[in-house]
Amino acid sequence: MEILNAFNEFETSALNAIAAATDSESLEKVRIEFLGQKNGRVKDLQKVVGTATTAEKPAVGKRFNEVRTNVTAQLDAKLEQLKSQAQKAASDFDVTLPGERPKIGQLHPITRVITEFRELMGRFGFTVVDGPEIEDERHNFEALNIPEDHPARDPLDNFYVACASAAAGGPVLLRSQTSTVQIRTMETTKPPIRIVSLGRVYRPDTIDATHSCMFHQMEGLMVDRHVTMAQLKTVLSLFARSFLGPDVEIRFRPSFFPFTEPSVEVDMKWGNSWMEIGGAGMVDPNVFAAVGYDPEEYTGFAFGLGIERFCMKHYGVDDIRRFYENDMRFLSQF
Ligand code: PHE
Repeated sequence: MEILNAFNEFETSALNAIAAATDSESLEKVRIEFLGQKNGRVKDLQKVVGTATTAEKPAVGKRFNEVRTNVTAQLDAKLEQLKSQAQKAASDFDVTLPGERPKIGQLHPITRVITEFRELMGRFGFTVVDGPEIEDERHNFEALNIPEDHPARDPLDNFYVACASAAAGGPVLLRSQTSTVQIRTMETTKPPIRIVSLGRVYRPDTIDATHSCMFHQMEGLMVDRHVTMAQLKTVLSLFARSFLGPDVEIRFRPSFFPFTEPSVEVDMKWGNSWMEIGGAGMVDPNVFAAVGYDPEEYTGFAFGLGIERFCMKHYGVDDIRRFYENDMRFLSQF
């Protein structure tokens, strides 16, 4: 059919023009030239359709639609291609470069030290156990050989808690020491025992650069036949050296705790100065009696170290309050 030549010619020249377009502006010109609503060459094609005889109409109409659809589709495809080429060229984005790391925060310095202590003590064969922070008087005082009239039990020196369990089962308080965990462990376990427990303790101290009403302790307890004070000193020395370095020294000074006999204060020499790091001693026979151990058969040592002390020394922090202020400028240094 002669009449179809016009469609072929339209299609060929449109596709050639599309292929030749090098940017979206020149492609838009092609679109207007061929498919433009007002004066596009498609209008001439429509006129051609109008001149077809009734017999030619179906074939001509079909071809008209075919050509228009094809040219439109090619235009769209070319536009997409030009767009993505332009995008690639515009940015220097190199997909082979490693991505930017999202900021994911980091562990609190105290948490880091606690994690390291757990691991160190684990290597010495000490299992980590946990205890509750809200305690009764048996675990915080009585079983630890701290009698009713002892000044350590003064309500002004402890955080007693008014709550339902207090009303039902006697006074409860925020534990003032992790020694509570010694009792909880011995109540449920037979010797030999080798545990550490790390966690928060609470005391209504006046807050200053070295005191906080909440801080962290690491409690240690070893009970077996023939446990000695020499072993206590060895464990503490090894622990301190593993954490801070081979030059660290440990010193014991005589002291008193109701739950150990004899009792000592533990000092650590790091650099040129001695620093008190906690208390320790041999478990008092009264404590063994309170948990049903035979003091004739077993001996044991216990220690309680202040974690903040180590943390301050280790990271060079001179004010304990910095640890609890949630100041990102401080925390993000670690
Ligand atoms: N509980 C003692 C304190 O908080 C430390 C300690 C623990 C002392 C174990 C002796 C034995 O000061």
